[in-house]
Amino acid sequence: MGWYQRVILPRVIHAACSSSPAARQRAKVVPRARGRVLEIGLGSGLNLPYYDPSEVRRVWGLEPSEALRKMARQASVPDEIALELLAAEAEAIPLEKNEADTVLITYTLCTIADVPRALEEARRVLKPGGQLLFCEHGRAPDAAVRRWQDWVNPLWKRAGGGCHLNRDIPALLRAGGFAIQDLHSMYIPGWKPASFNYWGAAYPK
Ligand SMILES: C[S@@+](CC[C@H](N)C(=O)[O-])C[C@H]1O[C@@H](n2cnc3c(N)ncnc32)[C@H](O)[C@@H]1O
Repeated sequence: MGWYQRVILPRVIHAACSSSPAARQRAKVVPRARGRVLEIGLGSGLNLPYYDPSEVRRVWGLEPSEALRKMARQASVPDEIALELLAAEAEAIPLEKNEADTVLITYTLCTIADVPRALEEARRVLKPGGQLLFCEHGRAPDAAVRRWQDWVNPLWKRAGGGCHLNRDIPALLRAGGFAIQDLHSMYIPGWKPASFNYWGAAYPK
């Protein structure tokens, strides 16, 4: 891994993910987590303060980047919640079958290299009746914005550690074996090609 990926990119990710519009999105989704939670792509831990300590007992924070795991250790976590960091990728989750009540994934499906494999893993670790909560940016509904997304994507991916601007998040979740129960979408404030957000809850079909 080069110097940019190891040293600069984690700081860029933390800065980009720290925006106020993204924080408002986190506040809509993260408090819905229950029980034992697997957060895929923990990043610098920006979701941690939003967990409801009366509902969440444990969070496994899966994060492949050592620099981001280091930042997440400094993040504020409610005292009642046990946080365990997992140095792993979503394509091979180091948990047993049916261990999690909730899988949370925010602004990470854009980046995971093998999304079908990661969603298969998410279904494996979710208990029967468990929920996958998501909030992601992705493919915009407007043709003009989509053209920008497709055009900038190759460069964006290189600079953004593999982040895609144009993934169809609901289609990926459905193809990955999830039924989406409530789906919301809108442009959050910011550069439109990177600002169309999808969020909600999904359940294994
Ligand atoms: C844009 S950041 C989002 C971080 C965090 N979820 C948030 O909302 O602030 C994308 C994250 O996905 C992680 N990531 C990239 N590939 C991954 C993979 N295969 N499995 C799990 N996480 C991955 C990156 O290390 C990074 O932390």
